[in-house]
Amino acid sequence: MYDSLAGKVAMITGAANGIGLSAAQCLASAGARLVLSDIDEAAGKKILTQFHEFGLDAHFVRCDVTDGQSVQALINFTLERYDRIDCAVNNAGIEHPHTKLADLDDDDFDRVIAVNLKGVYLCLKHELKAMLRQGFGVIVNTASLAGLGGAPALGGYAASKHGVMGLTRTAALEYARRGIRVNAVCPSFTNTDMVKRMVASDPRLGQRLNNASPMKRMGEPDEVARAIAWLCSDESSYVNGQGLALDGGISAW
Ligand SMILES: NC(=O)c1ccc[n+]([C@@H]2O[C@H](COP(=O)([O-])OP(=O)(O)OC[C@H]3O[C@@H](n4cnc5c(N)ncnc54)[C@H](O)[C@@H]3O)[C@@H](O)[C@H]2O)c1
Repeated sequence: MYDSLAGKVAMITGAANGIGLSAAQCLASAGARLVLSDIDEAAGKKILTQFHEFGLDAHFVRCDVTDGQSVQALINFTLERYDRIDCAVNNAGIEHPHTKLADLDDDDFDRVIAVNLKGVYLCLKHELKAMLRQGFGVIVNTASLAGLGGAPALGGYAASKHGVMGLTRTAALEYARRGIRVNAVCPSFTNTDMVKRMVASDPRLGQRLNNASPMKRMGEPDEVARAIAWLCSDESSYVNGQGLALDGGISAW
């Protein structure tokens, strides 16, 4: 699947868990060379050991996406090691407690904006500079269905993901003529630790999340990962500036 990814250099943030880890596995199985990054160094190094046991070409760099210097160091590492960045997957993200806007804690709002929105902005900015120098590249941001519409009890999160869509569409328009494509994936609830944390705080929520989908189940991380790999590949060569909903049909309502 996605033969064009063989030998490509792909950088992924938030790669130690969930959707980022699945994306890394999917890109690796298509033959891409990987620079994995995450703020969770212990989990990242464990994943890297497993990748090396399978003979995969991969590195791990600890990166906090809220810190511009940390992001710059990740880009520098990739360029020093491989001399190019073919694909960048800006996936690192966090949630805040389920609560309506009037009760949302200001610090929780700030944290979500810092990681989900400013983090993607910083990654995009440094990746675009590198891709403009080389004259090619593909970027995939992990937004959310909450970046395409309202998300009750997740207002700060929805604001951050709408911001990611704004950055995605703008970057796509600004750099389409420079050989760079920028898209986003927009998953609905997906079966990762992020959702497990939400459900742990409200046991009835799990069933509600399953029922929200016409398919009566959540998405699985590899279902998002395959879309990320497709958007990274030449098979999606005319797709640009899009937010691809991966929601079992929720947005068809
Ligand atoms: N799971 C869902 O239902 C769902 C739905 C839509 C969108 N998303 C988005 O998908 C992305 C991945 O989420 P997930 O569900 O795999 O969550 P997850 O919690 O399983 O994984 C997120 C990863 O991001 C890392 N991370 C957190 N803060 C970071 C920082 N400051 N710098 C670098 N890395 C950091 C974490 O250590 C973790 O490894 C996020 O952007 C999330 O908003 C998730």
